[in-house]
Amino acid sequence: MIIDPTQAFRLDGRVAFVTGASSGIGATLARAFAQAGAAVALVARRRDRLDALADELRAAGARALPVTLDVTDSAALPAAFDAVSAGLGVPDILVNNAGVARTGLFLKTGAAERDANFATNFNAAWDLSAESARRMVAAGKPGCILNVASVLALNGAPGYAAYATSKAALTHLTRCLALEFVRHGIRVNALAPGWFVTEMNDGFLESPAGREYLDRIPPRRAGRLEELIGPALLLTSAAGSFVNGVTLAVDGGHHAALA
Ligand code: NAI
Repeated sequence: MIIDPTQAFRLDGRVAFVTGASSGIGATLARAFAQAGAAVALVARRRDRLDALADELRAAGARALPVTLDVTDSAALPAAFDAVSAGLGVPDILVNNAGVARTGLFLKTGAAERDANFATNFNAAWDLSAESARRMVAAGKPGCILNVASVLALNGAPGYAAYATSKAALTHLTRCLALEFVRHGIRVNALAPGWFVTEMNDGFLESPAGREYLDRIPPRRAGRLEELIGPALLLTSAAGSFVNGVTLAVDGGHHAALA
């Protein structure tokens, strides 16, 4: 296979199922995938936002389908995939991006906070990966799963025990699934973003304490959302056809200093 470097990052003919597409990183990746030629299923709970994004993408000539789904509702997953398959085709890119950050010191973190982090950040990604991979295999379609982990999956930090361990579990699931699915032509990789200003953390990062924190970390700034696009396209397009089972930090080098 000879790859034309000018086309290698394109996603023409692909169908992407992007969770948490109503804001932040998910909306950014959904826009980028549509621009790269993919049909995009916009999956999250806030329907008004999904409809607005779908209208925007369609106006730019893309195929987009809003899908209302709580990713922790495992019983609802088959119907969501059925709707996407009927509307756009069998998804051959799954982006497990939906996530929550319920943070706090370990001794103040109850089981409910721990379980809330794991339910969305890990269990839902597990269930979605199973549903998605089964359908790719049944359709004889090669594809990709991209998990959005965190720099906190790579190293610990006080106050993040529940969130960080849920993301670390996600990176290990990434490796295990990469090994099981490679025979089906399905690659499984993860992104480990550093800090990006989104609704998840803008209260902190835009506060004086947050700005001081950003001054102290190696890149001395938060990432710009568009800085995740190249890495995400690498891991989902033909450009990364032999990249499998990796967790790629996109953090300006932050992880290199945490060990
Ligand atoms: P965000 O809060 O803007 O996006 C999270 C998305 O997940 C939202 O669309 C939200 O509605 C959706 N979501 C949450 N629970 C859901 C559920 N049960 N069902 C359906 N959708 C659900 O925040 P951001 O930053 O865009 O987060 C996206 C991912 O990136 C998350 O997994 C987060 O942990 C991860 N991340 C974010 C970082 C940052 O600095 N912003 C750093 C590292 C990782």
